[in-house]
Amino acid sequence: MYEKIDLIAGLDIGTTKTSVIVAEKDRRTGEAQIIGVGSAPSMGLRKGLIVNFEQVVRSISSALEDAESMTGIAVNKAFVCFSGALTTSIISKGMISLGSTPRQVTEVDVQRVIDASLSEISMPNNYCTVHTIPVMYSIDGQKGIDDPLGMTGVRLEVEVQSIMSPTATVQNVVNCAERAGVGVTGLIAKPLASALGVLTPGEITSGVAVVDIGGGTTGVSIYVDGALKKLSVIQIGGDHITNDVARVLKIPMEAAEELKKHISLGDDSDAFDEELEFLVQGKRGSCSAAQVHEVVYNRLEELFEDFVNKELRDIGSIMLPSGLVLTGGVAKTNGIADMASEILGMPVRIANPIDGPKMPPGRNGCEYASLAGIIKYVNILEKYPLKFIGPSISFSSNIIAGQTKVKRSKVGVEEDHGPGVIVMFKNLLSTIKRTFKELF
Ligand SMILES: Nc1ncnc2c1ncn2[C@@H]1O[C@H](COP(=O)(O)OP(=O)(O)O)[C@@H](O)[C@H]1O
Ligand SMILES: [Mg+2]
Repeated sequence: MYEKIDLIAGLDIGTTKTSVIVAEKDRRTGEAQIIGVGSAPSMGLRKGLIVNFEQVVRSISSALEDAESMTGIAVNKAFVCFSGALTTSIISKGMISLGSTPRQVTEVDVQRVIDASLSEISMPNNYCTVHTIPVMYSIDGQKGIDDPLGMTGVRLEVEVQSIMSPTATVQNVVNCAERAGVGVTGLIAKPLASALGVLTPGEITSGVAVVDIGGGTTGVSIYVDGALKKLSVIQIGGDHITNDVARVLKIPMEAAEELKKHISLGDDSDAFDEELEFLVQGKRGSCSAAQVHEVVYNRLEELFEDFVNKELRDIGSIMLPSGLVLTGGVAKTNGIADMASEILGMPVRIANPIDGPKMPPGRNGCEYASLAGIIKYVNILEKYPLKFIGPSISFSSNIIAGQTKVKRSKVGVEEDHGPGVIVMFKNLLSTIKRTFKELF
């Protein structure tokens, strides 16, 4: 159903930076091992959305060149992770009868029950599904079944999580990647990649929320009882903190960006008396640490108290024993864990990628969580091809530049993309097409 791989590449298009990860499959263990990370500043994105096509293409090209100089490998196909400010999730349920006498569940039954659950969704206009994730199966009322294949019963039920983005957002991402010479092997919503990049299996099982605060957006993924319960993107990130500092203190953006990284959110009144100095384009300036602190604190307080809290409340009064896991570049702010813990009333830990020790030094911190998650995602797909089912439509653009042309696949048709994994689910995809035919 899917192709085995030797080389895997991931491309993470963030608002602040564009990064590339290259991994090689260990033939002994079957796991992908990271061999390099390339990175370049992002241009042409706002709040995770592409606002300047050519600038984004250039950022991708720079990140690719950087990865190539480190690994010696020219990446021309990749799993692409994107933020997309309007990415959201919806849960639906499906049920099918297996007959009047108990029998074993087959792959066709699994496809049918997922199809049934998807027909329950009313998708917003001009949206498509990026991921279809069967989060839990039940047989004859017995809940919590991970994999129903081969199990026996008369009634099969499933709960499915669909991650959706505006079709145009996804198409723009694919077009930019292809223009930079990268065929898109798969797409991954950034909050999902961040969660896979930092969570331990124990945290997923017990219940946890992952909050990735990047440059233009904050991704939220909430896991309950081992299953993804909610995924969303908040349109606030570190750029908003920088903007606020620059505006309120009337200082250049470059100075604001640096100064905000030097303050601590803790209640350290000695540090508040400090005068922070900056030098931008030959011009010196200074401002009080207390003022910078106040602006950063207020913006983050709003983010946690209003926005993150709302996402947590949306799942009801469910406990998350493993608390909140904070990652993304902004998670490096001094004292942010204590602040978030106080506001949200739950334990908070700051997370670097689990695979951080296998990544190059300096490119293995919080801001690389989603990039690292791409490799985790591919490793999961290798083992469990039906864990994440890919987009409901094909994003062929035929605008690939240079010699690295990659023929894009038609929906439901497998084809050779060289290194990479393609998961196809023919019946399911055709059903999604039927269900959401207004999109096509
Ligand atoms: N040490 C730090 N302290 C506070 N904020 C930081 C620090 N390092 C990076 N950031 C902020 O993190 C944001 C970038 O996070 P990142 O995850 O790289 O973004 P994206 O994934 O959206 O490209 C920027 O707003 C940057 O200012
Ligand atoms: Mg990030």
